[in-house]
Amino acid sequence: ITASNTAHEGFLQCFLNHTQSSNASSHLVYAPNTTAYNTVLRSSIQNIRFLYSSTTKKPVLIVTPTNESHVQASVICSRKYGLNIRVRSGGHDYEGMSYVSDHEVFIIVDLANLRSITVDAEHSIAWVQAGATLGELYYTIGVKNKTAAFTAGVCPTVGVGGHLSGGGIGTISRKYGAAADNVIDAQLVDANGSLLNRESMGEDLFWAMRGGGAASFGIVLSYKIKLAYVPPTVTAFNINRNLGQNATYLVSRWQQIAAKFDENLYMRVIAQAVDDSTTGNRTIQAVFNSLFLGTCKELVTLMETSFPELGFEAKDCSGSEMSWLESVLFFAGYSNESANILLDRRPEYNSSFKAKSDFVREPIPETEWEKIWKFLLEPEDEPLVMIMEPFGGRLSEISESAIPFPHRKGNLYIIQYFMRWFQIDPAVTKRHLDWMRKLYGFMTPYVSSHPRAAYLNYKDIDLGRTDKHTTYKDARVWGTKYFKNNFKRLAFVKATVDPGNFFRNEQSIPPLLVL
Ligand code: FDA
Repeated sequence: ITASNTAHEGFLQCFLNHTQSSNASSHLVYAPNTTAYNTVLRSSIQNIRFLYSSTTKKPVLIVTPTNESHVQASVICSRKYGLNIRVRSGGHDYEGMSYVSDHEVFIIVDLANLRSITVDAEHSIAWVQAGATLGELYYTIGVKNKTAAFTAGVCPTVGVGGHLSGGGIGTISRKYGAAADNVIDAQLVDANGSLLNRESMGEDLFWAMRGGGAASFGIVLSYKIKLAYVPPTVTAFNINRNLGQNATYLVSRWQQIAAKFDENLYMRVIAQAVDDSTTGNRTIQAVFNSLFLGTCKELVTLMETSFPELGFEAKDCSGSEMSWLESVLFFAGYSNESANILLDRRPEYNSSFKAKSDFVREPIPETEWEKIWKFLLEPEDEPLVMIMEPFGGRLSEISESAIPFPHRKGNLYIIQYFMRWFQIDPAVTKRHLDWMRKLYGFMTPYVSSHPRAAYLNYKDIDLGRTDKHTTYKDARVWGTKYFKNNFKRLAFVKATVDPGNFFRNEQSIPPLLVL
């Protein structure tokens, strides 16, 4: 019997005692020797890169709680038996930190069964359990009330648990802020296994878990959120331009104005190298992927003054008016499906991916864009997409220290560099990762510096890695990139609520103990 076997057997007994459930192991806990283990493990994994990596460990047990006492027992028993915990809600972590580990013996607490949503549209609030997906949340809100919405990301299978604890930005964030800005209460199980709400956890911990990454502090069971108002008719549209259609000028112009647009207008740019369908030549295609909270007629008038160069006209209105819930489907890439598809939790692609992020504070000159395009066009088979999302509006009005998500005034837009590939050959993976790092190096002169800021929800292990013994001082290398000056307060909160660093992963906040 190995040490980890002893630990996981001890855990099981302890879990049964605490939950007083005689058949807990068959319904709630999956060990590697059970047939369902692999199915449960893979159920929400988005990035399969880590499943096939020889260096990442798999969980010794997967617990799938159906009520809060199961979560409390998981914390108490794993702590007692020295097991690390990875909490998983939607499984979209870019570096797989909710389901794999470099070197810890660990269990997964998978919250997929805790996903109830209660909407009180009259008072513009909802309670949502952490295991719900954004798609389930949007569906439940949108079906109940056509003029209610929630500000969060665009991918329906993203989990509420991780997303709201890291920030959460999407199509109405310029008007309503990040998802984490709209959390007004929460239920969390701390390192002692105690169930806390906003009042009992206190304002420091409540501050930390909204943008600081809740994985460092506890297990979130549910969030109380503030809903947003949206008009019954919104306008969603794409305008595509390639290099022959003035894309370089338009992207360069977009960066100067998109953060200053009316806050009802969100226009992101998705740029990538493609084969031109008419000439067959490689070109850059820029998609201006947009949402306007209003009718198309109002939008046409707005575009004439805000961005006339894009050439948006009344004829582009055809098919672009819809409800906000339908716009969720539009941004998720669905064209003919019913809104029920938002309830489908299955991972969208069986693929590997890598992302990095940057913030742009000064517009990049048009001549420099030509150099960036050249860099993207060079390799034929690097499937890179640059997704550029405008800031400004409400995002810039909130102070940098209001919550740990610090990306506020002064940011024009965020760039997400994103690559997806389907081969599992380690050599292919290495080539893609190397090229991504080269691109990141190439972009250095154009983006924020001191610190070169990064967005926690686009987690990037290249920024730095911690282990159980990493100090606050060492972790500042990556911590200040994600959190700027909020990193120190996060480390103080960590020392207060989890001084023994029970909740830890490769990029968790280390405790900063005051002597
Ligand atoms: P997952 O379950 O993997 O958890 C992520 C992290 O949070 C892990 O560290 C985990 O331990 C922790 N965690 C999860 N649940 C917890 C809980 N209940 N309590 C404590 N800790 C918990 N972002 C964005 O802002 N806007 C967007 O539009 C998108 N779009 C998008 C598309 C796609 C395809 C992907 C893969 C990702 C995004 N994201 C995004 C990024 C997304 O917000 C980020 O990956 C979230 O952390 C995902 O949360 P999940 O719960 O799905 O992940």
